[in-house]
Amino acid sequence: MTTERTQSDSDDRRMDKIVALTRRRGFIFQSSELYGGINGAWDYGPVGVQLKRNVKDAWWRSLVEERDDIVGLDTAILMHPMVWKASGHVDGFSDPMVDCKLCKKRFRADDLDNAICGQKPSKRPGQCGGELTEPRNFNLMFETFLGPVSDTSSRTFLRPETAQGIFVNFANVVATTRVKIPFGIAQIGKSFRNEINPRNFTFRSREFEQMELEFFVKPGTDEEWFHRWVQWRRDWYIGLGIRPENLRLVPHEKLAHYSRATTDVEYRFPFGWGELEGIANRGDFDLRQHQRGIRTVARWDGGDLQALQLVEEEQDWHRGKLSYFDEETKQRYIPYVIEPAAGADRATLAFLCDAYDEDSAPDAKGQLETREVLRLHPRLAPVKAAVLPLVRKDGQPERAMRIYEALKRRYVVEYDESGSIGKRYRRQDEIGTPLCITIDYDTSKDGTVTVRDRDSMRQVRVSEDRLLELLDETIHREPR
Ligand code: GAP
Repeated sequence: MTTERTQSDSDDRRMDKIVALTRRRGFIFQSSELYGGINGAWDYGPVGVQLKRNVKDAWWRSLVEERDDIVGLDTAILMHPMVWKASGHVDGFSDPMVDCKLCKKRFRADDLDNAICGQKPSKRPGQCGGELTEPRNFNLMFETFLGPVSDTSSRTFLRPETAQGIFVNFANVVATTRVKIPFGIAQIGKSFRNEINPRNFTFRSREFEQMELEFFVKPGTDEEWFHRWVQWRRDWYIGLGIRPENLRLVPHEKLAHYSRATTDVEYRFPFGWGELEGIANRGDFDLRQHQRGIRTVARWDGGDLQALQLVEEEQDWHRGKLSYFDEETKQRYIPYVIEPAAGADRATLAFLCDAYDEDSAPDAKGQLETREVLRLHPRLAPVKAAVLPLVRKDGQPERAMRIYEALKRRYVVEYDESGSIGKRYRRQDEIGTPLCITIDYDTSKDGTVTVRDRDSMRQVRVSEDRLLELLDETIHREPR
């Protein structure tokens, strides 16, 4: 569920500045920009890819590596088409659309208040005098064909979520590992949806990355686990620096047919509140559907999937292939699933928006000027420290390079010797580098360097030998 609201002027300006900074400093570019760009797809530049990687690593670390009850998985984007029939995506993963007969544009029927018609001056759909068609369902999955022949039997889809790759591997994981319920399977990967109105920068894209966890529990314990996961997932964003006042939990009043409860974690973007992650109690819906799917596939003649009926459940469905045998209670059952499903691009955008700030700093002549700074949590910052010789002579570059080489073994650090020191600080502020280490004339005398803190701009002199320790402390400190 998304409740993006209309932007105010100052929110507009803030978002424009964030987009401009991410473009200028190489975080995010429009896909195929050289050719005029395409809508709904984005490229992450050198610092952007590092930031997004740090977000995904923090997620993976907190779930798969720090817990004993979750394992990881990396499944294929291309899957058997019957997966998408059984999951309900072939029949139900669609948005109601209307077409304007005048401007020929297509709009989401349930979002007409936020849509703009192609006629000038811009108007809401229908206000241009064009007649709108009746709503028709438009499936959001991208179709593709396996092999050289393009017919219904070779047709499949780019996955619209990573979750199904987990469900169809449930039995493989149980058979090959030592997991016991309750346990989870986590996956990070690309998903594709042919969104009608991709918008708000990377927020709603056609190609994006998801970070999904399917946590399997014994029926009857699901509510308790659901509430735990809602809190844990909210806390994860706060632990990485998101201000609590910019987060809210929104329980769904109207539930999807597979859901027994859903709560969204929403972030207050400059363009309004928007969903970062949905936590759903999916009951046993998915595993039961796949039990029907694997029986149906034997009868599929390669014809149109939409016309195909899934076979009914067997009477002893709870003993089927995707059931679980509980050694302790000697019971066999289909587990329930709690699913915290997050977007890596949305989380990255939220961290960028929350970190963006402006204050003032002296320019080369000592006059105050506006400084743009990304106050990213040091764990997420793309570059942890910049090593800067004050001048390009007197042995300073060589000494700085030695420090850089030593720090680089443990952390992503940058060496920069070009331009005034003020300009170099400003660049590092804009990519969110927590520490700048300057090598100056005193370094050769007493082995100390200047360490400048990104947020306070305070400078302290530190012995060269303490730099690694200082970096460790900075990266592992609590959020502001
Ligand atoms: N398996 C459940 C599922 O996919 P979802 O709410 O449709 O649930 C989960 O997606 C998360 O994936 C969302 O909360 C959002 O962060 C991200 N997401 C979904 N559609 C997206 C899009 N078009 N662009 C960017 N991120 C998207």
